[in-house]
Amino acid sequence: MKKIILVVGARPNFMKAAPLYRHLRKQNNLNVILLHTGQHYDYEMSQIFFEDLDLPKPDYFLDVQSGSHAKQTAKIMVKFEKVLLKEKPDMVVVFGDVNSTVACSLTAKKMQIVIAHVEAGLRSYDETMPEEINRRVTDSISDLLLTPSEDANVNLLKEGVDKEKIFLVGNIMIDSLVVVINKIKDETKILKKLKLEAKEYCLVTIHRPSNVDNEEILAEIVSKLNEVSEKIPVVFPVHPRTRKHLQDWKIKIGSKILLTSPLGYRDFTCLERNSRLVITDSGGIQEETTFLNIPCLTLRPNTERPITIQMGTNKLVTEKSLLNEVEFVLNNNNKKGKIPALWDGKTALRISEILIQKLLVNQT
Ligand code: UD1
Ligand code: UDP
Repeated sequence: MKKIILVVGARPNFMKAAPLYRHLRKQNNLNVILLHTGQHYDYEMSQIFFEDLDLPKPDYFLDVQSGSHAKQTAKIMVKFEKVLLKEKPDMVVVFGDVNSTVACSLTAKKMQIVIAHVEAGLRSYDETMPEEINRRVTDSISDLLLTPSEDANVNLLKEGVDKEKIFLVGNIMIDSLVVVINKIKDETKILKKLKLEAKEYCLVTIHRPSNVDNEEILAEIVSKLNEVSEKIPVVFPVHPRTRKHLQDWKIKIGSKILLTSPLGYRDFTCLERNSRLVITDSGGIQEETTFLNIPCLTLRPNTERPITIQMGTNKLVTEKSLLNEVEFVLNNNNKKGKIPALWDGKTALRISEILIQKLLVNQT
């Protein structure tokens, strides 16, 4: 029987892996192993997603936790190598652009195991972003590059990737979003809990090192968010990296900003759908807001997801332009977006067919 390992490690991996895991598990002649590196480990950054996305307990939990890039990557590689030696899988599937993605790809490649990369080909062309390095390295050694949109194919072809390896499959995050939207029964539960009115608040998430690892920049962002909160209530689920720096630097947060812990997937997507606008620096949230047709202001100088600007509701902003852009949205001047091709909730099915073809028909 063929064996395949799906690797998850950090928050944005879980919603990408869940729909594919479900499809692959339907195959009788395939042994599907779910491995969690433990890069994220707090309940609300990890386990809650297993519950919200109906994922089973992982078969392997490497428990690597936090560390410098080198330490975290190395720790994952050492532990993952042991699993690969024991399990001898035919294929490893990695998702996105986090340290777990690159660490497990490198380990598998050196052992001549086929690698499939879900969300291949995205580029910000900004090498100060750790994720850009992770994307480039992972793509350069992957055997199957499964891309979310046409621009990713163009990027990969420009880098000389063999076109036979590239498959435009669509955006797998949208698969999970579609499932959760159809599942949520009481839409207003989290709104009631946080005393928010639908379409009358702004949802904020900020966690990129370029925004939160520098005291001056983080203080400036928070000061602008305080100004935004004078115009519309702000709800801000705080990522642990951001929380630590807000506390360490004692940055003053206005009383009209509602801070929460990181939220589970169901609550968060519910808040996202019902928001008036979103301010973020997250990769995935730029995509979800485009699908949900919610205005999104992205506090970054660039994005690896340009299609959300070209077709969707996303706009890049700076600390300086933020307030004007918020007013623009509140005056109903935001652009109307369209949903990109193949962001249709069926990406996991397309991917599983490609993987099964490679594993069972081509006999890797
Ligand atoms: C990681 C990813 C980033 C992704 C983000 C999603 C890399 C290089 N970065 O960034 O691409 O956008 O996840 O959320 O892989 N911490 C906790 N509890 C946890 C996890 C982290 O307290 O469960 C704290 C620790 O202090 C840690 C810090 O957050 O040092 C950063 O965690 P880390 O996984 O290194 O990077 P993220 O900023 O989460
Ligand atoms: N998300 C969540 N709770 C939160 C913040 C984000 O469930 O408090 C979800 C969000 O809906 C999206 C994913 O996490 O599906 C994005 O992950 P994140 O922003 O951590 O990482 P990035 O996409 O920037 O790598």
